[in-house]
Amino acid sequence: MTHRSGVRPRASLSFLLWLLVLGCMKGSTAVVAPPEADMPGERARLALTPPMGFNNWNAFGCDVNEALIKETADFFVSSGLKQAGYEFVNIDDCWSKMERGADGRLAADPVKFPSGIEGVAEYVHGRGLKLGIYADAGTKTCAGYPGSLGQEEIDAQTFADWGVDYVKYDNCSNQSDGSRADFVRRYTAMQRAIERTGRPIVYSICEWGQSQPWEWAPEVGQLWRTTGDIHDSWHSIRGIIAVNAPLAEYAGPGHWNDPDMLEIGNGTLSEIEKRTHMSLWAMMAAPLIIGTDLRRASADTLAILQNRELIAIDQDRLGVQGNVVSNGAGLMVLAKRLESGEVAVALYNSTDAQALVSAPAASVGISSETGVYLHDVWAAAGVEAKATIAAGVPAHGTVVYRARPLAATDVVAPSLSVEGNLGTLIPGLAKSVALTTRVVNHGSSAAKQITVSVQAPRGWRIMPATAAAGPSLATDGALETRWNVLVPEATPAGRHPLTVTASFTWNAASTRAASTSEVTSVVAVAPPKGDTPLSTLVPVSASNGLGPVEVDASNGGEAEDDGNLISIGGKLYTRGLGTHAPSSVSYHLGGRCASLSVDVGVDDEVGADGSVAFEVHADGKIVAQSGVLTGKDPARTLTADLKGVDQLELVTLSGDAPLGDHANWAVPRVVCGGSTARSVVERTLFSFESGTEEFTIANAGAGGAFALSKHFATDGSAGLEVTSPADGNWFGRRFKAPIDLSAFKRLRYDVKTGPAGTVGELALQVGPGSSWCQGGRWSWINANSSKTIERAFTEISCPAGVTLDRKQVHAIWVFVKAATVQIDNVRAE
Ligand code: GLA
Repeated sequence: MTHRSGVRPRASLSFLLWLLVLGCMKGSTAVVAPPEADMPGERARLALTPPMGFNNWNAFGCDVNEALIKETADFFVSSGLKQAGYEFVNIDDCWSKMERGADGRLAADPVKFPSGIEGVAEYVHGRGLKLGIYADAGTKTCAGYPGSLGQEEIDAQTFADWGVDYVKYDNCSNQSDGSRADFVRRYTAMQRAIERTGRPIVYSICEWGQSQPWEWAPEVGQLWRTTGDIHDSWHSIRGIIAVNAPLAEYAGPGHWNDPDMLEIGNGTLSEIEKRTHMSLWAMMAAPLIIGTDLRRASADTLAILQNRELIAIDQDRLGVQGNVVSNGAGLMVLAKRLESGEVAVALYNSTDAQALVSAPAASVGISSETGVYLHDVWAAAGVEAKATIAAGVPAHGTVVYRARPLAATDVVAPSLSVEGNLGTLIPGLAKSVALTTRVVNHGSSAAKQITVSVQAPRGWRIMPATAAAGPSLATDGALETRWNVLVPEATPAGRHPLTVTASFTWNAASTRAASTSEVTSVVAVAPPKGDTPLSTLVPVSASNGLGPVEVDASNGGEAEDDGNLISIGGKLYTRGLGTHAPSSVSYHLGGRCASLSVDVGVDDEVGADGSVAFEVHADGKIVAQSGVLTGKDPARTLTADLKGVDQLELVTLSGDAPLGDHANWAVPRVVCGGSTARSVVERTLFSFESGTEEFTIANAGAGGAFALSKHFATDGSAGLEVTSPADGNWFGRRFKAPIDLSAFKRLRYDVKTGPAGTVGELALQVGPGSSWCQGGRWSWINANSSKTIERAFTEISCPAGVTLDRKQVHAIWVFVKAATVQIDNVRAE
């Protein structure tokens, strides 16, 4: 895909003439419409295939600077990303000074960008790459920097003068009446201003899909966001695919749906999820804008981002977004026509269990008279199918094929789908759980001498109860096998992969081939002895009315980890489950527990809205219920007898007013194993109940202040209000004598932001040399929100030669960068 690198689209003669006309018009107020026939073509030429590049926002938030952009540009060249087609290095929000200059122009923050944007552009261009910048169609950017509303001409000219090649135009502080006309007006104003500069600049519209931009933005920009912000979570990726995939008809060369930047490499996605992210973005002809710290990216992350076959599907010159061929029960099939005449087909499983995903070849536009050739893009191997394209697809996984009619010269193995179905596993039980595997031959030729095997984690016992081998499977023939599964006592709760493989021979020469798929097993473990908060346990299953069930936070919105500290009737809780009715969360108790107690209620974040009924089910029977509670009601305490109960289910039902059903299970606790001792041990380090507790500022010269506060207390009645300088500072304390935290795994503290978001980090001084170890950086932008920050000691890194000696902790520091934040209850757990 080298055709994109470093080649600037050339302006045609008519475009140049048009610019000349405009140049002559300067000073006059008349607006000359561009020559109808040519301008859209010129515009399209800026992005005939979806833009590819990098943007700092997903991984760095506001923490952008010149070194990062230059090093990323260098890395594009040295790693081969440039060769693979990645071209734009884009700066997001927070690059400018807080005020415009005396000349009315935006100016780069001189600390973050000592060479100015101009200098960075020169550097990036010097590497054959292009530079992008961020602005906002409002009075302020989302992080509070100057916006461009009403200043479109001067800002576009400034960007052009600096040599900018790409402008992302955001939608915060937009002063909008919400009408489509207003969106079109604001976004067209910047488009016109950019085009008037005469510089070819890709225009990326970022209004979060609010006014159905796919219906008007193809005339305005080369790409437009179709959704709210992406997050580094499976939930976010799945939600965005569901919105963006049905918009295929609106995309084409020069105008693309933008489902937001990539999260691959940012930490929470599994390998299967990362591949789905890349696969679906390629199938949806999405801009491929990398959003991770490339300088620290793993080999796996780079291999996914550089997968040539997927990039080729994304960048295919035909420029169509893949169509949704079928979509139901969480299983989606997409088909994307390619310039070569082939069709890229994605079999996508968004559910939490492995599933068979299939489509008749005819439904993806391939006539199957002679059969179908399927090239598996991730496995880099070919198979043949008679008339059905099918695969057993792992939970959250995607299989991508390049498909075409089978040619007489294709001599390949038949396509076999492999499925597996498995109940919940309980470690150490004498009784086994059944696994059913099913292998189906979709090929024209027979699969012979089949043997099925299951690979499981060490120590697991998997024994076939019925035949796991068969002589031969003709087209559509199936081999079903039942297995008994036993897991060893110490297996941790959670999801563990099993690999099912069918190996077979397929031709006269008895060539062996294999087909495999991953099956997810759910291992459930009964709570430990003692009094345990349910939010520290792994549920067997969870379903929720809006977004995922949040742990130790309220429901918030659609995204993962977007809630606040749970709050009912003004009372804050640092533990619990934030759900949205209707919801269900179930736990395996194994008959070990005696009782449950919990406070339930609608979260204060919805005001007086919401109407929710809470029910506790024990082995399917209702054992406690709240009646309907609304946002006006205080918390209600529920208790339940759990003696002998195997399965506990927390259920919420929506009442008569379905809006705002943010349903909290605050501090749900189970008492199990005949003990009431707390099973999760905490040590409070600072609770600010006896004053500021000798807090200090690490770099006194750098500014900042703190004071006792009654505004925010998650423990007792006092917390600390911290005012930080613009670049942040470290707040904390050296202990009189070193403390021993070796019994704990992590540090936690509660934070509430002021009118702007905040970023932070943790540091400890440890060992005989009192060395600084720091890390566990976090950032979140929601104003006036609260959460518990939790960082494991393993997330805090020490300089070379120093180990994080938890036996000798001399000082604990919290880094804060925000105007004002409240913190409370710094504790080890
Ligand atoms: C909005 C955009 C994001 C990012 C931030 C920056 O949320 O949608 O992509 O640019 O603003 O503040």
